[in-house]
Amino acid sequence: MSEQTQKPDDTTHFGFRDVPKGEKQKLVGEVFSSVAGKYDLMNDLMSLGVHRVWKRYFVSTAQVKRGDRVLDLAGGTGDIALLLRDRVGDSGSIVLGDINGAMLRVGRDRMTDMGKVGGFEYVQMNAEKLPFPDASFDLVTIAFGLRNVTDKDAALREMQRVLKVGGQARVLEFSEVKAEWFKPIYDFHSFNILPKLGKLFANDSDSYQYLAESIRKHPPQDELKRMMGEAGFARCDYKNLSAGIVAIHTGYKV
Ligand SMILES: C[S@@+](CC[C@H](N)C(=O)[O-])C[C@H]1O[C@@H](n2cnc3c(N)ncnc32)[C@H](O)[C@@H]1O
Repeated sequence: MSEQTQKPDDTTHFGFRDVPKGEKQKLVGEVFSSVAGKYDLMNDLMSLGVHRVWKRYFVSTAQVKRGDRVLDLAGGTGDIALLLRDRVGDSGSIVLGDINGAMLRVGRDRMTDMGKVGGFEYVQMNAEKLPFPDASFDLVTIAFGLRNVTDKDAALREMQRVLKVGGQARVLEFSEVKAEWFKPIYDFHSFNILPKLGKLFANDSDSYQYLAESIRKHPPQDELKRMMGEAGFARCDYKNLSAGIVAIHTGYKV
């Protein structure tokens, strides 16, 4: 049973703190409103650019083709949407959905500056309650977003609902590191380096402390796979990248 399900019904995790469920969304909102302007720079600094490799792999192995309609949930500043654009081509379309207006604005401005205008819709939405009819998308993705959602089961059920039959859901998320020797190094980087980088470059160490803590509270690989099955996905599976620092989970609507 997950830590999430062992908790009293009215509380959840915000990093290592227990908070009323009704408060988590606001606290997460404050994190991303605070870091939005420096989000892309911080990703490069924290991961030494490796997040780009994970995201490229995530998109290049997705079940998607030209002309498809795709939903990228918790899409933030648009890294995944931008990569998906090449896969769906001019005849396809991508909805970039995020709960946070500041992150969406940074994403939209960035795409516009790059001349990537057609084929995108930006929608402010909560992943727990999607504003789309059943069977609307060929592919639904969520990258580094599910960890921040209060009711992950609801978000997974919604992803399943809006997929067309035969469509794929993909979750890219930090997960449980599997190489024992690497764990102390990873913990040192997470709890000592990340908050300092946050302080230095985004004037915000707390948000990067939250990042490190929220990763530890996120359901590990097998548990997330089970949750996807319970949400109604078929053929659920996952693949670890970088010894499990991140994992890609996949499921299908049948
Ligand atoms: C770490 S960022 C990931 C952004 C982007 N997908 C990427 O990989 O760079 C997490 C995003 O999840 C969004 N988010 C958090 N809770 C959400 C929710 N309930 N529904 C939709 N988006 C949410 C945040 O606003 C933030 O933009």
